[in-house]
Parts: sequence; structure tokens; C-alpha cells
Amino acid sequence: MLLGVRCEIMRCMSDDHTHVQEFFSARAADWDNRFPDDGPAYASAVSELGLREGDRVLDAGCGTGRALPPLRDAVGPTGVVLGGDLTPAMLEAAARADRDRAGQLLLTDVSRLPLRAESLHAVFAAGLIAHLPNPAANLRELARVVRPGGVLALFHPIGRAALAARQGRQVSPDDLRAQANLGPLLSASGWRMTSYVDEDARFLTLAVRRP
Ligand SMILES: C[S@@+](CC[C@H](N)C(=O)[O-])C[C@H]1O[C@@H](n2cnc3c(N)ncnc32)[C@H](O)[C@@H]1O
Repeated sequence: MLLGVRCEIMRCMSDDHTHVQEFFSARAADWDNRFPDDGPAYASAVSELGLREGDRVLDAGCGTGRALPPLRDAVGPTGVVLGGDLTPAMLEAAARADRDRAGQLLLTDVSRLPLRAESLHAVFAAGLIAHLPNPAANLRELARVVRPGGVLALFHPIGRAALAARQGRQVSPDDLRAQANLGPLLSASGWRMTSYVDEDARFLTLAVRRP
């Protein structure tokens, strides 16, 4: 049993994720083609996690697994890389792209991870937080599986303003990822925000798991 992973395919998900699964199932086959130049941004964000050889890391909401190769490079062959996602079509696309060679794919809900407490050194989450039904509880679950002093990266390969412009909307002050909202949310969920970058080319918040 790896890190207490109870089973590789978790079909017992607590909330109704039908909408998220439908949304991403429709986009899975073409996901990587939509943003083919994002690779270096993912590698750069992963490098800021400070991972070491042999570390254990989860890519939460890994989708097609774009972060898995740089995560594997960071922890080396002795490390553990897990990619967790609740949309089967995204994981199937990850496997078709051979990203299951970089990390173990888990069909799982990040709000209820099949992992032991404090079993990981870090969690990387790209494009995930906006899709979480209960961010405080869900971030707390991520904190549960990370050891004290471990790191969380909330990443997006485009900043909030640039994303809003692409989608034809304004950035709202209520946005979960606004620094004034995210800092307290992380504090209330077992994390301490240590850095916040929101520029056109990327959004990256780092947080440390509080003791
Ligand atoms: C915007 S995509 C990002 C995918 C990938 N991280 C990337 O950067 O290309 C968000 C992903 O999060 C997954 N997701 C959303 N809610 C989730 C949850 N509660 N548990 C696991 N995965 C979830 C979706 O299925 C989708 O694959």
C-alpha cells in the first residue's frame, strides 16, 4: 500500500461533481492543444516548491498531467509523484500522453483523499481552486495530507486580470484568489501564505503547512 492509498480508483466521491466532470470531459481530448506553450511556466512553478530528491508530492486536480514530468524531475526516481483528479477523461488523456510514466494517476476527489495524514512533502494545484465546492474544507484536506513545514502551490499559467480579459469579464473583489481573500482562507485551513504573485504571465501562491 503506497502512502496509505487505499485503492487506485476511488469511485466513492462525496459531493456531486457531475458538472465539473461534464465540463472537463468535453475538453479533455483537446486540453493540451489549447495551450501548447505552457510547459516552461509549469516547470518554473514546480521549481519554486523547493522539492528534493526522494520527496512525495501530489498534483491535485492534475488533469492531463502537465505538471507531472517536472514534478518527477524534481523528486527523482526515488520520490513519489501522485496525480489526483475526479474526471476520468482527463486522466485518460494523461495516460495517452504517457504522463502516467511520471506519476501514479488516481481517480479521486481532492476533498477526500485516500492518503495518510502528513504523508506528503508538497501539493501542487494548477487551475483547481476555482472549481472547489468548499474551498476552506478542501484546502484543509490538502493540509491534512502534508507534513508540517510542507508546501502548497496554487498555480495558474495566466494571471487573474489576463484570464478575466480573455473571458470578457472584470476581476471581482470577491474573487477567491484575490490576495486579501486568499491569505485568510489559507490561514483558516491550516496553511500560512508565504508568497503571492499575480501577473499577466502567471498566478502563483505559495503556502506552508502550519504545525
Ligand atoms: C482547470 S483544470 C486544470 C488541470 C491541470 N491541473 C492543468 O493545469 O492543466 C482543473 C482540473 O481539476 C479537476 N478537479 C476539479 N475539482 C476536483 C476535485 N474536487 N477533486 C479532484 N479533481 C478536481 C478537474 O477535473 C480538472 O481536471
